Amino acid sequence: MKQSFLINLLIIGYIQTANLQCLNVCSRINSTKRGNYLNVLNYHNGDLISSKNKNQFNDYNDGSPFRDEIYLVTSYFGFLMCSLGQSIQINLIQKYELNTLKIWLWDRTNRFYTIEVFIIFENVETRIYESNQAQSILTIQFPAQKVESFRIYNTGGNTVNSILHIIKVEAYYKFQ
Ligand SMILES: *[C@@H]1O[C@H](CO)[C@@H](O)[C@H](O)[C@H]1NC(C)=O
Repeated sequence: MKQSFLINLLIIGYIQTANLQCLNVCSRINSTKRGNYLNVLNYHNGDLISSKNKNQFNDYNDGSPFRDEIYLVTSYFGFLMCSLGQSIQINLIQKYELNTLKIWLWDRTNRFYTIEVFIIFENVETRIYESNQAQSILTIQFPAQKVESFRIYNTGGNTVNSILHIIKVEAYYKFQ
């Protein structure tokens, strides 16, 4: 009786250790799949703007929405432009499980943009945002899913002209 009690204790201890190890490994795997909970859209990650031939980077690379030097923005540079009916498509170097996309729209004057935003994964597009009131910094939260690309579609320009202007984009997995 006593012996089996001890054996049970040992087994329970073993299972608990194994669970703990799994928990550690599993949470590390989750963290990796989610880009370590950091912004995955940056130069170091090697992300691409595959729509680059249809977009215009104002002030060359300083107009890239992946840059970290985001605070020098004027009417002439520091943003990415996309004409009406075109999209800005961002391809991730890896597939990440994400739930948040942040888009900073040009906001040096008061204006609203009309855009739609999609996630692309394995050739399936899922719309995660649609508005004619988009302004300044948008934080778009969506049910966590694997992402290959984001597509920001200029469906209606803005209240001043027909162009979509993006200063910066970020994407990450955020704890709810
Ligand atoms: C890992 O993520 C899955 C969902 O993808 C979740 O069910 C599980 O609890 C997570 N595991 C850990 C240890 O965080």
